[in-house]
Amino acid sequence: MFFGDINEAGRSDPHCREPPRLPQGRRHSRDRSGWRSQIGSKLAFNQQKVQAASYSDPEILNFALNLEYLEAEFYAMATWGTTLVGLGVIDESETTGPTTGGNMVKDFGASPLAFLATGLRDDEIDHVIYLRSALGSDAVKKPAIDLGALGYGYSSVDSWLKLARQFEDVGISAYLGAAPLISSSTYLAAAAAILATEAQHSGSLRAACIQNSVTSPAVDSKDVPPTSSKPFDVDKNGLSIPRTPAEVLNIVYAGGQSSGGFYPAGMNGSITAQ
Ligand SMILES: [Fe+2]
Ligand SMILES: [Fe+2]
Repeated sequence: MFFGDINEAGRSDPHCREPPRLPQGRRHSRDRSGWRSQIGSKLAFNQQKVQAASYSDPEILNFALNLEYLEAEFYAMATWGTTLVGLGVIDESETTGPTTGGNMVKDFGASPLAFLATGLRDDEIDHVIYLRSALGSDAVKKPAIDLGALGYGYSSVDSWLKLARQFEDVGISAYLGAAPLISSSTYLAAAAAILATEAQHSGSLRAACIQNSVTSPAVDSKDVPPTSSKPFDVDKNGLSIPRTPAEVLNIVYAGGQSSGGFYPAGMNGSITAQ
């Protein structure tokens, strides 16, 4: 069933891995990756502010959890017309604000892409559950989210493709940018497993954009939109392109300093401002 019951989402799968438990309170320098040299002056300034502090692994994974909340809400709304609270994945007390905007995409179930949307939705909900479980009591609550921040994504399957592609490629770049900042090899492996899943998501959406002649514009100067001549979001070496937390925040806050765009009250946790 394309838009099946939430309980069919695979969480009883015996092959599901148990989330690792994060060590508490580990901090380290964030200056290990060398990606600082890759960014321009404005973003370098923003990044310095993010890099001014060092972050623990839970703080870094909570940054990822904020993004997973957004992705999961997006797919839940587009395919089921509801939210994580509506589905019972989290309850109201595990949020700091509502998820608003967006709607169920009309006739999505009849689209050849319905199977893809179903898989994306289930994976993103599972990512929320996985990270929340791994973080335990350190997990941040779901922030207020405005799914309609860009004014598109829900009027048609093509509009959904346009926004979904952007979400997935930003998500990949966020995990890639955060990976060198993670201290624990156990949690780096967990983040890598999620990153690989996000890469599958991106690849399928980029192919769908090209095959359906859907334009999904670049979200910033690093973004490489899918075209028939450039199907993948990679640099000249065929490598995925990382973004710093500041660069990610600049996109999802729609240019806001500490809130805006998809997060009208900002993200939750320690990495919340450009
Ligand atoms: Fe995800
Ligand atoms: Fe994804």
